[in-house]
Amino acid sequence: MTNSHTDSKVVLITGAAQRLGAHTARALHKRGWRVLVHYRQSREKADELAAELNAQRSASCAVLQADLARDEDIAALATAAQAQWLRVDALVNNASSFYPTPVGEATAENWDDLFSSNARAPFFLAQALAPELARRQGAIVNMLDIHAERPLREHTLYCMAKAAALMMTQSLARELAPAIRVNGIAPGAILWPSSGSNVAMQEKVLAGIPLQRLGEPADIANTIAFLLDDAPYITGQIIAVDGGRSL
Ligand SMILES: NC(=O)c1ccc[n+]([C@@H]2O[C@H](COP(=O)([O-])OP(=O)(O)OC[C@H]3O[C@@H](n4cnc5c(N)ncnc54)[C@H](OP(=O)(O)O)[C@@H]3O)[C@@H](O)[C@H]2O)c1
Repeated sequence: MTNSHTDSKVVLITGAAQRLGAHTARALHKRGWRVLVHYRQSREKADELAAELNAQRSASCAVLQADLARDEDIAALATAAQAQWLRVDALVNNASSFYPTPVGEATAENWDDLFSSNARAPFFLAQALAPELARRQGAIVNMLDIHAERPLREHTLYCMAKAAALMMTQSLARELAPAIRVNGIAPGAILWPSSGSNVAMQEKVLAGIPLQRLGEPADIANTIAFLLDDAPYITGQIIAVDGGRSL
């Protein structure tokens, strides 16, 4: 085991206990980043991930809890992130809720839940961290969706919230330049929803992907790493990582 350098960069990844967020945490950690793993309910998985990464390099991963539907939690998360290692170089807005809201059944609670995790919290977190990110010439990556621009049947509220996050990405890129770069990633089908999806639906989705397969979590993690580490002249862009599905 090696020690983490106190001058190595720090990234806060929301919703990173599992799935794409956890893959991204591992990929950035491998490149030398120190990682702040945010979770809401998945404490055990967040702790396991931190133990795994800290076993590779001590003091290179810490976990932070917050319910991003609560304003006070968002503020506390931004404060705790900066207090952990006294620097934050990047924010990856990855946490998201996702489920159908067919017209006729959608509720105001659904609206609040889908908008808070997918648009509201990403904005207020970015705003709270902007002064620190600016000091570090930092970057923000927002996890969007190809369905921010093309509707997904029976998911109006989710698509609307991701569309808001897409505009937020472009708008913040203008307003926070030149100090902070802000980009988005629009995944196609990478991991089926943890809430499940039926085989017929999966076959239909696969039939619409020119590369004829699901993407790998590494495709997303590597694109985030590229935007953070290797793209100093890219801002305000949305990269579709979708096997050509949006074509
Ligand atoms: N998977 C795909 O193929 C795909 C496709 C298109 C877009 N995307 C986007 O890529 C990102 C990652 O996808 P994913 O499938 O890995 O995500 P996910 O598993 O559906 O969600 C990631 C985490 O978000 C957290 N979360 C949800 N609501 C929250 C809230 N109110 N406060 C705090 N945390 C909250 C949950 O944390 P806890 O478990 O700790 O509660 C969850 O584990 C998302 O933004 C998603 O929209 C993914």
